[in-house]
Amino acid sequence: MPLTIKKARFLTSSIAVSKCPPANRPEYAFIGRSNVGKSSLINTLTNQKTLAKTSVKPGKTRLINHFLIDENWYLVDLPGYGYAQVPKAEREKWEKFIRIYVLERVNLCCLFILVDVRHDALQADLEFMTWVGENQVPFAVLFTKADKLKPEETEMAVGKYRSRLKEIFDPLPPTFITSAIDFRGRNEILEFIEHVNRDFK
Ligand code: GTP
Ligand code: MG
Repeated sequence: MPLTIKKARFLTSSIAVSKCPPANRPEYAFIGRSNVGKSSLINTLTNQKTLAKTSVKPGKTRLINHFLIDENWYLVDLPGYGYAQVPKAEREKWEKFIRIYVLERVNLCCLFILVDVRHDALQADLEFMTWVGENQVPFAVLFTKADKLKPEETEMAVGKYRSRLKEIFDPLPPTFITSAIDFRGRNEILEFIEHVNRDFK
């Protein structure tokens, strides 16, 4: 039975890991380049249109945003990385901030790394995934905006991406095809979360 979210509410925006809510519940964080659709996918999963703030302009999400789901687990919306229009110094600051979060947040059960299904694998994304893997942080790859391609194009693009991942990872991380428009992938992700939640200690 797929899990459905009954209640989702915004908790806090934190400027540092030390300021985040208590690390006593399973946590799933959304990460990826600016504008890839992190906030939109959180709204899709929770069935709320405006829970996480979205924007056509990259760089909308700035802090570590915690949402409490069914009083039981957390979803986290993170700022996007690799946004070229942000000055280099600020970009490096954000990247460091994200890496500290990934390494120090002890209740992080899975990092959802989002990539736009229309784009070829980007070196920056593959390098980030490699770094996450090397640090033994569980992650999954979520392909976003699948509604923008024809089904056969999506299949081709995902197949190509998974081949790239196979060159780096064994076993392959879980992958999900998603869309915030037609809700594709929602049940699969919620089932995955439910499964991982059961093992949380
Ligand atoms: P930052 O917070 O700036 O890092 O961006 P983000 O990754 O949170 O992206 P956001 O959810 O704000 O979405 C960016 C833009 O992409 C918005 O205009 C969304 O409407 C659009 N978008 C997001 N997901 C989808 C999708 O699945 N399909 C389509 N067609 N558009 C999407
Ligand atoms: Mg966002």
